[in-house]
Amino acid sequence: MAQTRVLVVDDEPNVAQAIQIGLERMGYSVGTASTGQEAIEVCDSEPVDVMLLDVRMTPLDGIEVLGRVKKSHPEILVIMITAHADVKAAVKAIKLGAFDYILKPSSADELSENIRRAVAFRDLAVENKELKRQLRAKHKFDSIIGNSPAMQEVFSMMECVVDTESTVLIVGATGTGKELVARALHYNGPRSEKRLYCLHCAAIPEHLFESELFGHEKGAFTGADSRKIGAFEAVDGGTFFLDEVGETPLSIQAKLLRVLQEREIVRVGSTTPIKVNVRLIAATNRDLAAEVKKGNFREDLYYRLNVVEIRLPLLRERKDDIPLLVQHLLEKYQTEAGPATISDDAMEALMAHNWPGNVRELENAIERAVVLSKGGGLQSSHLPRMSAPSPAGDPGPAVDLDQPLSEARDRFEQQYVIGLLRETRGNISAAAKRAGIAWQNFQRKLKKFNINAKDFS
Ligand SMILES: Nc1ncnc2c1ncn2[C@@H]1O[C@H](COP(=O)(O)OP(=O)(O)OP(=O)(O)O)[C@@H](O)[C@H]1O
Ligand SMILES: [Mg+2]
Repeated sequence: MAQTRVLVVDDEPNVAQAIQIGLERMGYSVGTASTGQEAIEVCDSEPVDVMLLDVRMTPLDGIEVLGRVKKSHPEILVIMITAHADVKAAVKAIKLGAFDYILKPSSADELSENIRRAVAFRDLAVENKELKRQLRAKHKFDSIIGNSPAMQEVFSMMECVVDTESTVLIVGATGTGKELVARALHYNGPRSEKRLYCLHCAAIPEHLFESELFGHEKGAFTGADSRKIGAFEAVDGGTFFLDEVGETPLSIQAKLLRVLQEREIVRVGSTTPIKVNVRLIAATNRDLAAEVKKGNFREDLYYRLNVVEIRLPLLRERKDDIPLLVQHLLEKYQTEAGPATISDDAMEALMAHNWPGNVRELENAIERAVVLSKGGGLQSSHLPRMSAPSPAGDPGPAVDLDQPLSEARDRFEQQYVIGLLRETRGNISAAAKRAGIAWQNFQRKLKKFNINAKDFS
């Protein structure tokens, strides 16, 4: 085992030296310092395991030295050495992070015993941390399936940022798992006990944005009958997930940028800034750099968000993961009888498809097939028509009398939505308006049918 390095800090050199000699005889590597300043300098320049620190010293007393050392070297174990009269100070020191205190005069044996206990305690804490780390690595992100090199890369990026406060931008096409990754980062990170707030940036009407996110004071505007705490304040200490951040209207981007820069908000109707402490994770299915060039996305906001970028692969770029995903989904949608089995040709069909809707599309297909197979094992006939044209193409005959009403209705709806998107050149708001439904509702339909509005623009 490595030799324990002890630093004895006492303004009476004789005392320090006596302790040094005693401890060196017992096998410790011992240095001395005769002032607080010197002690701090030693800690800054060489490794120290345990510091034996006299409480009463001038000009810096032991408590002050303790405070400074703990700030810059929290790993150093500090044992206070104190006379009877200073026990109060020693107790205070423990509150400030000292490991223990020993009364003067103390024998080398006594000191050694204390040092040994302190080191054992530290080793146990380190071991605990390591065990926890291993445990977490095992369970970590276990809801995210993928063994392909592309997914390994995603996992290693996640490992790098999960314990940090870094802002993360998750980039990926629809259904590739952006929200899943955002959640895993939150729930495996240091803020997991606090809230995760998901804001769908496109779904929030511009006029409500400020009061939703920043809150408002009573009487700030007509209808503000009472004070309202906004999301940023409510989630203080937690994680803020800006989903589909690429859809944020420019006017709102400016307001978001301010929060990210200043880390403070002002409630509507107030002038007092309030500090907020949130970790930011953003997701987008757009190429934000291209949006910046087109003038649709603020460059300054882009750089604030894109501190660390995690890119999720398309499912067709990681087809080797399909069997794993299928197994996972069969378990997820299992009935009381357990997970369904799947025939070889059904698996082949899944492997052959090009999955424009990525994992979400696969998940929908499996969920539906499990229901249709009624516990008899999944056959390719239970899968949606995999040869179906891509959403931008011809969706096929309108009426197939062999299908159940729900499917026929779905097919009609799909065609209808595609028709509207064609006419509006992929403008979701305009299409929703023509359909007479809310934007979010229309968006849900796009998701359901794995339609990408951009294919029509
Ligand atoms: N690697 C994965 N392993 C297991 N399930 C996954 C994986 N990726 C995605 N999923 C599942 O697919 C579905 C879609 O994932 P998610 O909502 O995270 O995608 P998204 O990228 O946010 O999509 P969108 O851009 O459409 O919002 C979810 O049910 C999720 O659990
Ligand atoms: Mg999403």
